Amino acid sequence: MSTTDEIRIVTTPDAFRAACDEARGRGQRVGLVPTMGALHEGHVALAREAARHASFVAVSIFVNPTQFGPNEDLARYPRDLAADVASLRGLAHLVFAPEPTAMYLPGDETRVRVGPLAAHLCGPFRPGHFEGVCTVVTKLFALVGPCAAVFGEKDFQQLAIVRRVAADLFLPVEVVAHTIVREPDGLAKSSRNAYLSPQDRVRALCLSRGLRTAVDAFRGGERRAGVLRRLARAEVDAGADRVDYVEITDPATIQPIPAEEAVARALLAIACHIGKTRLIDNVVLGEDGL
Ligand code: PAJ
Repeated sequence: MSTTDEIRIVTTPDAFRAACDEARGRGQRVGLVPTMGALHEGHVALAREAARHASFVAVSIFVNPTQFGPNEDLARYPRDLAADVASLRGLAHLVFAPEPTAMYLPGDETRVRVGPLAAHLCGPFRPGHFEGVCTVVTKLFALVGPCAAVFGEKDFQQLAIVRRVAADLFLPVEVVAHTIVREPDGLAKSSRNAYLSPQDRVRALCLSRGLRTAVDAFRGGERRAGVLRRLARAEVDAGADRVDYVEITDPATIQPIPAEEAVARALLAIACHIGKTRLIDNVVLGEDGL
């Protein structure tokens, strides 16, 4: 696709489904990148990954109300469709940008319930969040049909849950993971970074510093889950206003690993608040790292 190609924008589920059907009708494979907009280089990397798996790339931009809690940032979540579309030029063929009333019809009541994968990390701190995510992702998968769908490891628990949904519901979707895209100083790119004041932006480095400290200790031979967790926790405590969790879990089940256990390959995940902004980050210890 050349950079002069136009991106088609559709806003109705019917038009979205038709455009994906047409692409497959032309013999193309469809790649889907679900997003909530305010696109940054992390999202763009996902679109590029989709293009490696598919010849027709669709990006959905939808700030999904059902995944936000009552005291979360739904109303102030950054929205700029024109800028988002511009950032996808040369990468995406189709943008789906529906209104909430198009995705949740009058009388809507069906939800995709999630299981133990949501029992830890973000699940307890964001009641209903993963149910909202799974419901909207299932709707998107139902509209798109057979495709490769790309998700970022930035939301590691979300990725694990979406994989489970696709498998459990026999959805014709190959879920593809992409590594975390970071700022040069280590901060994971996030639409929510836009909320950070210059001082908070500096403090936000406590997340990647916590991960780095644990990764270094792991590389140095430390394997005790409790020790690795405490090392990360100390860095996060030093910068954050409130810590939701610093946890070490099995990457497949998202169940915490007891402090006394030795870890071989484990997810280290962090969620904390910097000012009014909630940030998350993670690394898989025993893999390539940050
Ligand atoms: P959003 O936060 O916009 O993220 C969309 C996708 O981009 C997710 O798969 C997320 O993991 C990925 N992503 C975000 N920041 C990233 C980074 N720094 N590096 C790599 N990937 C990154 O996640 C959602 O939206 C929603 O929950 C959604 C799946 C769209 C359902 O509403």
